[in-house]
Order: sequence, then C-alpha cells, then structure tokens
Amino acid sequence: MNRQKLTQWMTAPLVCMALTVSGCRTEIPVAFEENLVHAKKWEIQNDTSMDQVVADTRWALEALFGTPDEPKLPEVITSDDDLKTLISVENLQAASGHESIEGRGLYRTHCARCHGITGNGRGETAALVEPYPRDYRPGIFKFKSTARGAMPLKSDLARLIKHGIAGSSMVADYQLPDGKVGPLDDDSINKLVDYVIYLTIRGQVERAAYDAAAMELDLEAGDRIINPAEATTNKEKFEEDWELITDSVAEAASAWLDAEDQVVEVEIPENLPIPSNHEELTKMLAGEQGAELTKSIERGRELFVGAVASCSKCHGATGRGDGQEADYDDWTKDWTIRAGLKPDDVKSLTPLIARGALPPKTIKPRNFEEGVFRGGETPEDLYRRLKQGIAGTPMPAVTLVEGQLEEEDVWHLINYVRSLKKPAAEPTPAGTPESEKAEPAPGVAMVTR
Ligand code: HEC
Ligand code: HEC
Repeated sequence: MNRQKLTQWMTAPLVCMALTVSGCRTEIPVAFEENLVHAKKWEIQNDTSMDQVVADTRWALEALFGTPDEPKLPEVITSDDDLKTLISVENLQAASGHESIEGRGLYRTHCARCHGITGNGRGETAALVEPYPRDYRPGIFKFKSTARGAMPLKSDLARLIKHGIAGSSMVADYQLPDGKVGPLDDDSINKLVDYVIYLTIRGQVERAAYDAAAMELDLEAGDRIINPAEATTNKEKFEEDWELITDSVAEAASAWLDAEDQVVEVEIPENLPIPSNHEELTKMLAGEQGAELTKSIERGRELFVGAVASCSKCHGATGRGDGQEADYDDWTKDWTIRAGLKPDDVKSLTPLIARGALPPKTIKPRNFEEGVFRGGETPEDLYRRLKQGIAGTPMPAVTLVEGQLEEEDVWHLINYVRSLKKPAAEPTPAGTPESEKAEPAPGVAMVTR
C-alpha cells in the first residue's frame, strides 16, 4: 500500500465516525493493490528499485482494466472476434462495484473477504485459513478438467463456486439476498466466473510487466516499461511499449480460450470395478464384485508404496499425509525459494511480508483417511488429479512405465486411495452437524486446521 492510500485508510474511518449520525457508509475509494511482493522479489534479486516500474504499470493497468468500481476490458480483447467471447462487460459490471449498489457488488459481497478486492488472496480473513485463499494473479488453478498447465474451463470454476472446495475454508454457503444461507444461483456464479478471469488476466499482465522490466530493461539507466508522458512527446516509442503490454493481455486471455482444447478425456474401464464414492465402495466390497475390488485395492496399495509411483514418499506409507511435510506450494515458492530466500527463515522474509506476503505455511499432502477430495470425488475427478497432478503444488502427475505402471494401474491407485477413508475421521465442514452449521458468517467460521 502506498503512503497516500495508507493515509486514506487511516483517516477515512475517522471521517466516517464523525459522520455516523448522518449514516456514512464506508466510502473509502477501493483500489486494486499493486503486486508489491512481486516487485520486491525483483528488487532483492537485481538490487534495483522497482518503484518506477510499479507506478508505470499501475497507470497502464488502470488504462486497460479500469478500477474495482468501474472495471473495463482492454481493447485487444473487445476488438477481437474470439477474445471478446471470453468475458461479458455486463457480467463484469454486476460482479464489481460496491455491495450496496443494486445489481452490483457480487464479488465484494461473497468473495473479497478471502480473495481480496484485487484477487491477490489477501482478504481480511485470508491469514486465518489454511490453505490460504487463492491468489489468482499467477494464473494457476488446481482443480480443473484440463491439463495441468492449462487454464480451467469456465465450468470448472463455476462448479467450485457452486459446491465449494471440500476440506478448505471455501464452502458453498453464502449469505443470500433473501436472508438465507446457501449456494449462489447459476446466474450470479457465471458473473463471478467472468470476474475471476478478469482479475486473473489483470494480475498476469501486471506480473508480466514487472518481469519484462526486471529482465529486459536497464532500470538504473532510467528505462521505463511505459512512460505515459511519451504518448504525446514520443508517440512511436509509446506505441511500441503499449503494444508489448497489450500483447501480454492477448496472450493471457487466449490461454482461457485454448483451455477448451486441453480437456483431459477420461475413459472409465468397463472390465474393472470402479466405485464412484466411498459408500459405493463399501457396498461393492460386500457384493459379488467384492473379490475383484479387493484385488484391485491390493494392487493399488503395492503401487502406492512402490518405487515407481512412490505416492508414499509424500502421502506416507498408509496414506495419512505424513510422508513429506516440509514442502511449499508454488504461490509461496514464487517469492521465497525463487528469490533465493528460505521459506522457514521468517526473518529474511520480513521485507516481503511487510509488503503483503502471507507467512509461508507448508503444504500438506492429502490424508486419505479423511476421505475428502478437494477437486471432486468422482472417478473422472480422481483420474484427472492423478494423470495431471495438481498445478501449483508438489503433487506430480503419474508417469506410466511399461510393464510396471500401466493405464489400468491408475484405476487401482484410485480404488486404493478411496478405500482408505475412515468413517470416524470425518473432518469439518463435511462432518459438522447441521445444528453447529447454523449462522456462520459464511466462510469465516469454517477455518480448517
Ligand atoms: C472463506 C474464504 C473463501 C471465500 C469466501 C471464497 N473462497 Fe475461493 N478459495 C478459498 C480457499 C482457501 C481456496 C484455496 C483452496 C485450495 O487450494 O485447496 C480458494 C480457491 C478458489 C479458487 C481456485 C480454485 C482452483 O482450482 O485452484 C477460485 C477460482 C475461487 N476460490 C473463487 C472464489 C469465488 C469466486 C468466491 C466468491 C463467490 C470465493 N472463492 C469465495 C477461500 C475462499
Ligand atoms: C511430491 C509429493 C507428492 C507425491 C509423490 C504424490 N502426491 Fe498426491 N498430493 C500431494 C500434495 C501436496 C497434495 C495436496 C495438493 C493440494 O490440494 O493442495 C496431494 C493431493 C493428492 C490427492 C487429492 C486430490 C483432491 O482432489 O483432493 C490425491 C488423490 C493424491 N494426491 C494422490 C496421489 C497418488 C495416488 C500419488 C502417487 C501416484 C501421489 N498422490 C503422489 C503430494 C504428493
């Protein structure tokens, strides 16, 4: 937060307090926050100030994307026949803005307290939950039907918003306009999906600008990523710089459209017993397919602890998530390990934490005794998790090895992992009795361990 904004934040509540009698709403002008952590990371690596880059990028981003109250779409998107199908301006309008304005404010009402106005994963409750809410800006998403490196489909995002992410603080219970608590309607969800895409592209363009400046420009000699004044004084240079920025907009936006071609197809083998959930597994084990399923689970167990799949390396020999507990996700590695800093050396991280980075927490491999699959529990979901791994995390893709780990073995692994659920270990929120679920400040009460 820059000094001017800080002063606004500090004085606005006072002004408000003075005006409370006349009914002051919190009219602090909301603004997108700069990615100061990413800038600082480059400063540490290159020992050069990024202040000018941050300021110039801020100018460009506002020209392209507008503000949280008045968002807009860059012309490279709206003027392109394909790209313009990605995000609708009406949806942006409805998702953005102040929550008290009719027909607007969906994101601030339902998502910002965790994901932040900017989509940087730093809403006011962010520090309280584990894992931390997603920072959209690097453009990495975990739970999708597409390949690991691809963007998710809109339907993937919609599904997560509708059902929540089991085992995380992101639940499907939202405070609805009619006073009830429940899942959002599809129309609101579609609007929010567009807004998440918008925030993601904006964040990616910001990062790309900092990266280009830090890697390609001579900042000490006064090179700038873009100089607004040159729009009149040095038009040619300005347009060249502007084009580089808008190219990165087009690149980020195209990736969302390309996702359609990167869906991971799933073919469920007919010759194997593949239960769809734990209940079905229990029934199948007791039924006529019992022997065959037991064999499949046993084969899965062998593979799980074996050297080729080596799942136990992280998930532990019995799948309780206790094999490898000292690793970090990519969001954390991005500003620590990749900047030459150690995530557990908190002291050296102070300059980054001061700029908004959340203190590193290790990533826990899933404990299968809990029987919770964040990306969904259908055979298709689990197949995709195994065949692609989980983007942004150490969870690798299964590599097939002829004669040792074949396509069919992926299904044995799935059956084994599913079989590990212990009914007693039902975690919250799935295991929270209805009575205790009453009246959450939605999401806030659902802090996971
Ligand atoms: C109570 C906090 C909370 C609220 C409210 C919340 N989320 Fe999340 N969200 C999370 C957390 C935590 C994660 C990360 C889960 C994980 O990595 O397992 C997440 C992840 C996501 C992801 C990334 C999914 C992926 O595949 O990587 C998206 C997209 C998302 N949230 C969108 C939203 C939207 C849109 C809203 C509002 C409708 C919302 N969230 C509300 C906490 C929240
Ligand atoms: C290098 C460490 C590592 C290895 C090896 C590994 N995993 Fe994981 N796995 C993880 C981590 C970390 C997560 C949690 C990711 C997250 O959601 O943030 C995870 C999550 C999972 C999930 C949960 C998916 C969901 O939707 O919640 C499944 C299933 C899984 N792993 C299966 C396996 C299997 C099967 C193997 C072996 C083929 C394996 N893993 C190997 C680290 C690993």
